Amino acid sequence: VNEDRAKLAGIAASLRIGSYHRHVFLCIGGSCCPSEVGEAAWEAMKKELKDRGLTPGTDANACFRTKVGCLRVCQDGPIAVVYPEGTYYCGLTADRVPKFVQKHLVEGHPVEEWVFARNPLPAPTSTDASA
Ligand code: FES
Repeated sequence: VNEDRAKLAGIAASLRIGSYHRHVFLCIGGSCCPSEVGEAAWEAMKKELKDRGLTPGTDANACFRTKVGCLRVCQDGPIAVVYPEGTYYCGLTADRVPKFVQKHLVEGHPVEEWVFARNPLPAPTSTDASA
Protein backbone atom coordinates (compact mmCIF):
# COMPACT_ATOMS: atom_id res chain seq x y z
CA VAL A 1 0.00 0.00 0.00
CA ASN A 2 2.80 2.39 0.88
CA GLU A 3 4.44 1.78 -2.48
CA ASP A 4 1.16 2.58 -4.20
CA ARG A 5 0.87 5.79 -2.19
CA ALA A 6 4.39 6.78 -3.14
CA LYS A 7 3.62 6.12 -6.80
CA LEU A 8 0.42 8.14 -6.57
CA ALA A 9 2.22 10.98 -4.83
CA GLY A 10 4.67 11.02 -7.70
CA ILE A 11 1.87 11.15 -10.26
CA ALA A 12 0.17 13.95 -8.34
CA ALA A 13 3.44 15.86 -8.21
CA SER A 14 3.95 15.43 -11.95
CA LEU A 15 0.45 16.82 -12.52
CA ARG A 16 1.28 19.70 -10.16
CA ILE A 17 -1.78 18.89 -8.05
CA GLY A 18 -1.74 21.35 -5.18
CA SER A 19 -0.84 24.27 -7.44
CA TYR A 20 -4.17 24.96 -9.09
CA HIS A 21 -6.44 27.94 -8.66
CA ARG A 22 -9.43 26.44 -10.45
CA HIS A 23 -10.67 23.16 -11.89
CA VAL A 24 -12.91 22.96 -14.94
CA PHE A 25 -14.96 19.86 -15.69
CA LEU A 26 -16.25 19.69 -19.26
CA CYS A 27 -18.84 17.18 -20.39
CA ILE A 28 -17.96 15.73 -23.76
CA GLY A 29 -21.52 14.76 -24.33
CA GLY A 30 -23.54 12.03 -25.73
CA SER A 31 -26.76 13.37 -24.27
CA CYS A 32 -26.22 17.11 -23.70
CA CYS A 33 -24.62 17.46 -27.13
CA PRO A 34 -23.33 15.24 -29.93
CA SER A 35 -20.06 13.58 -28.93
CA GLU A 36 -18.16 15.26 -31.75
CA VAL A 37 -19.29 18.68 -30.47
CA GLY A 38 -18.13 17.79 -26.95
CA GLU A 39 -14.80 16.47 -28.18
CA ALA A 40 -14.24 19.62 -30.23
CA ALA A 41 -14.92 21.73 -27.13
CA TRP A 42 -12.46 19.62 -25.14
CA GLU A 43 -9.73 20.03 -27.75
CA ALA A 44 -10.37 23.78 -27.77
CA MET A 45 -10.18 23.84 -23.96
CA LYS A 46 -6.82 22.05 -23.94
CA LYS A 47 -5.44 24.40 -26.57
CA GLU A 48 -6.64 27.60 -24.89
CA LEU A 49 -5.32 26.63 -21.46
CA LYS A 50 -1.97 25.76 -22.98
CA ASP A 51 -1.77 28.80 -25.26
CA ARG A 52 -2.61 31.20 -22.43
CA GLY A 53 -0.17 29.51 -20.09
CA LEU A 54 -2.71 28.69 -17.40
CA THR A 55 -0.41 26.07 -15.97
CA PRO A 56 1.01 25.67 -12.46
CA GLY A 57 4.18 27.55 -11.78
CA THR A 58 3.69 29.90 -14.68
CA ASP A 59 0.41 31.58 -13.86
CA ALA A 60 -1.52 32.44 -10.70
CA ASN A 61 -4.69 31.38 -12.55
CA ALA A 62 -3.50 27.85 -13.24
CA CYS A 63 -6.50 25.68 -14.05
CA PHE A 64 -6.75 21.90 -13.93
CA ARG A 65 -8.98 20.38 -16.61
CA THR A 66 -11.00 17.18 -16.67
CA LYS A 67 -13.30 15.83 -19.33
CA VAL A 68 -16.30 13.96 -17.99
CA GLY A 69 -18.95 11.68 -19.41
CA CYS A 70 -21.97 13.40 -17.87
CA LEU A 71 -22.77 16.19 -15.41
CA ARG A 72 -26.42 15.03 -15.19
CA VAL A 73 -27.86 18.10 -16.87
CA CYS A 74 -28.08 16.42 -20.27
CA GLN A 75 -29.33 19.24 -22.42
CA ASP A 76 -28.01 22.36 -24.09
CA GLY A 77 -24.41 21.18 -23.85
CA PRO A 78 -21.58 21.02 -23.82
CA ILE A 79 -22.13 21.49 -20.08
CA ALA A 80 -19.22 22.59 -17.87
CA VAL A 81 -18.68 23.47 -14.23
CA VAL A 82 -15.85 25.51 -12.78
CA TYR A 83 -14.69 25.17 -9.17
CA PRO A 84 -14.31 26.61 -6.60
CA GLU A 85 -16.98 29.03 -7.84
CA GLY A 86 -19.24 26.16 -8.92
CA THR A 87 -20.29 28.04 -12.03
CA TYR A 88 -22.33 25.92 -14.44
CA TYR A 89 -22.14 26.71 -18.15
CA CYS A 90 -24.33 25.56 -21.00
CA GLY A 91 -23.57 25.61 -24.69
CA LEU A 92 -19.83 25.73 -24.19
CA THR A 93 -18.99 24.87 -27.77
CA ALA A 94 -15.47 25.09 -29.18
CA ASP A 95 -16.06 28.55 -30.65
CA ARG A 96 -17.02 29.86 -27.20
CA VAL A 97 -14.11 28.35 -25.30
CA PRO A 98 -11.61 31.18 -26.01
CA LYS A 99 -13.98 33.81 -24.55
CA PHE A 100 -14.75 31.54 -21.57
CA VAL A 101 -11.05 31.04 -20.83
CA GLN A 102 -10.22 34.71 -21.16
CA LYS A 103 -13.16 36.11 -19.22
CA HIS A 104 -13.58 33.53 -16.46
CA LEU A 105 -10.23 31.83 -16.03
CA VAL A 106 -7.95 34.79 -16.80
CA GLU A 107 -10.01 37.81 -15.73
CA GLY A 108 -12.13 36.09 -13.08
CA HIS A 109 -15.48 37.17 -14.47
CA PRO A 110 -17.94 34.44 -15.53
CA VAL A 111 -19.57 34.84 -18.93
CA GLU A 112 -23.03 35.40 -17.49
CA GLU A 113 -24.91 34.86 -20.74
CA TRP A 114 -23.90 31.17 -20.69
CA VAL A 115 -24.23 30.59 -16.92
CA PHE A 116 -27.35 28.77 -15.71
CA ALA A 117 -26.56 27.66 -12.12
CA ARG A 118 -24.09 28.11 -9.28
CA ASN A 119 -22.86 25.88 -6.48
CA PRO A 120 -19.80 27.50 -4.92
CA LEU A 121 -17.54 25.36 -2.73
CA PRO A 122 -17.06 25.64 0.12
CA ALA A 123 -20.62 26.81 0.81
CA PRO A 124 -20.71 30.42 1.99
CA THR A 125 -20.78 30.82 5.75
CA SER A 126 -23.59 32.83 7.31
CA THR A 127 -21.10 35.69 7.61
CA ASP A 128 -20.32 35.47 3.88
CA ALA A 129 -24.01 35.28 2.97
CA SER A 130 -24.78 38.50 4.81
CA ALA A 131 -21.88 40.34 3.24
S1 FES B 1 -24.26 14.06 -21.22
FE1 FES B 1 -23.48 16.06 -20.80
S2 FES B 1 -24.53 16.56 -18.96
FE2 FES B 1 -25.21 14.54 -19.33
